[in-house]
Order: sequence, then C-alpha cells, then structure tokens
Amino acid sequence: MIFDIIYKVILETSNMINKTPHIPVLFNEVMDSFIGMSDGYFVDCTMGYAGHSMGILDRFTNIKHIGIDRDTEALEFSKNKLIDFESRITFHHGTFSSVLPTLRDKNIVGVLADFGVSSLQLDKKSRGFSFTSETLDMRMDNSSELSAFEVVNEYSSEKLEYIFENYGEITQAKELAQAIINARIGSKITSAKELSDIIVKTLPKFGKIHPATLAFQAIRIEVNNELGEIEKLLDELEISHNNREIVSLITFHSLEDRLVKNRFQKWSKNCICDIRAMRCTCGNNHAIGKIITKKPITASQEELKVNPRSRSAKLRTFKFINKMEKK
Ligand SMILES: C[S@@+](CC[C@H](N)C(=O)[O-])C[C@H]1O[C@@H](n2cnc3c(N)ncnc32)[C@H](O)[C@@H]1O
Repeated sequence: MIFDIIYKVILETSNMINKTPHIPVLFNEVMDSFIGMSDGYFVDCTMGYAGHSMGILDRFTNIKHIGIDRDTEALEFSKNKLIDFESRITFHHGTFSSVLPTLRDKNIVGVLADFGVSSLQLDKKSRGFSFTSETLDMRMDNSSELSAFEVVNEYSSEKLEYIFENYGEITQAKELAQAIINARIGSKITSAKELSDIIVKTLPKFGKIHPATLAFQAIRIEVNNELGEIEKLLDELEISHNNREIVSLITFHSLEDRLVKNRFQKWSKNCICDIRAMRCTCGNNHAIGKIITKKPITASQEELKVNPRSRSAKLRTFKFINKMEKK
C-alpha cells in the first residue's frame, strides 16, 4: 500500500517535471525483478521514454546502462531526460534484434524489454497508429521502408487475410481482406481514419472495444515485424546469455506472451527427451536457468486506476544459471 502511494506520487511528480509522454508499466515490479543484479551492463531493449531506465539507473548505482530504441524521437527524449547519468549510459538507435548481437563482448547482467508501442506513438496523430489519424504509417522507426500504407494498398487479399487471422486473431479475416481490396479499387486508402471506417463497416462490435483494435494491431505487427523481433531477441538470449543474467519481458497480448512463456519453459527444462520416450536418456540436466515468475505479474488495482493502459501488461522474469553453481 505504502509503495503504491509512493509510486503514484513519483509518477505524478515526474509527469509534471518531465512531461513524460509515456507512463512506465509495472514499474515497481520491474525494479524488484532485478534485485541482486550488480557489476555489469543492463540493457533496456525498448527504452522509450526512459521510465524504467531512469529507475534502474537510480537504484542500481554500479550498473552501466545500454538503451536501445528504433524510434529516434523516443531516443532523443531519453538522452535529455537521463543527462545526469550520462557517464553510465550508451544509446543505440535500431532494433534490439540488430543491436543485441553487437553487445556479445559485454558482461550483461540484466535485460529488459517492454514490447509494443509507447503512448506517444499511439497518441500522436502524425504517427498513424490511432483510429483518427490522417496518415497511414504505423512505423516505430520512420526510416524503415515498410509502412501501413504499403501493407493496406499493395498486399494481396491472401496476405491481408493471413495477417488479420494470425496477428489479430480475427475470425472474419477473409471478409475484412476483401473489404479492403474493394475499397482500394480506384483510389488508394490514405489515412488510418479511412481504414478504420472500412473496418467498422465490416466487423461486428464486441463490448466496449473499438472494432478496429485487432485489425490495427495486426497491421502494426506486420509493419514492425513485432513477433519476429521477439523471436530474434529470445534466440539471441539463448545463444549468448551470461551466467546470472536476469531477463524481464513485458508483453501486451497473447501472441507476444505465448512466445515468451514457451521459450522460458524450454529454457527451464532439464529433460529434453522426446515426450513419447519411456524413460529419460538425456542426462536430465539441460536447464539453463529458472523461471522466477511462475505466473505472469499483472498490474495492481492502484496502477490500473492511474494508467489504464497497464491492463494487458504481463511481466515474466527468467534468471540464467551460473554453470559452476549448477554442478
Ligand atoms: C512500450 S514502449 C517502452 C516504454 C519504456 N519502457 C518507458 O518506460 O518509457 C516500447 C518502445 O520500444 C520501442 N521498440 C519496440 N520494438 C522495438 C524493437 N524491436 N527494437 C527497438 N525498439 C523497439 C518502441 O519504439 C517504443 O519506444
């Protein structure tokens, strides 16, 4: 209770001082997940507006920090915000899948990724993520080639259907793909607003959720290769983790969470024998670490009141094992 009150005060004050365009989710829980981390590098793969990074720099004073974001606007904001910690930070512009392999020689002791988009990306009309945007963009990195415009105006009906079905889990994926194909005959679809109207006319409304939510999510995932990025991050951690490295990952929907959950389970398994095997012949010592969060951590009632966007956040933490300790 007392921590919730302190958190709320910190949030309100920091928002007033820094005009933070994004409130970090599960802030206390993320900080707690790294307790015990010392002497090495901490990598914030999705630095955004440095809410989590600031907390880490503040609490873990003997840690060096590496901040990554593919969005230059976010990175510039964070550079200013963290000016007092300048001597302990390096910033990298790019995707975490491309930057992480370049850090293999560093003694990394903590990795955080808070997937998805920031509130600023969602809210700023010119970024083209919101239902009322006049543009059709949705790129987290505005120097990357593929935008929502190409996806919506150039993808085949089959490709659109695949995206809606697999990245949006939309049951009427075929109908929606066809509605978009029909709408773009004659003139291109040029704004997110226009796209949203097409979706609203095609899909039924369920409860309070905007009918275009899942279709927008699907297009955004495609534009930014969001699931591919998570897979590559997990692959990289699997190959190059340090002993004792703590990894905390925050997901926002089931497609993301499934990837993290399954990989953590794989890493924590001692036995890798075929499930049909009658008895274990693999040595039963293949786990490379342990799952710290048996169940994902979600936002408290207090946090939900302050930041409704935290409602779908799930935090999972994994700790790699020191091979010497394992013996
Ligand atoms: C939810 S926000 C992170 C907010 C941050 N934790 C904070 O406290 O301000 C996600 C950020 O990650 C960035 N991002 C998403 N996917 C990325 C990727 N594959 N590589 C690098 N940055 C990414 C986005 O541009 C966005 O700024």
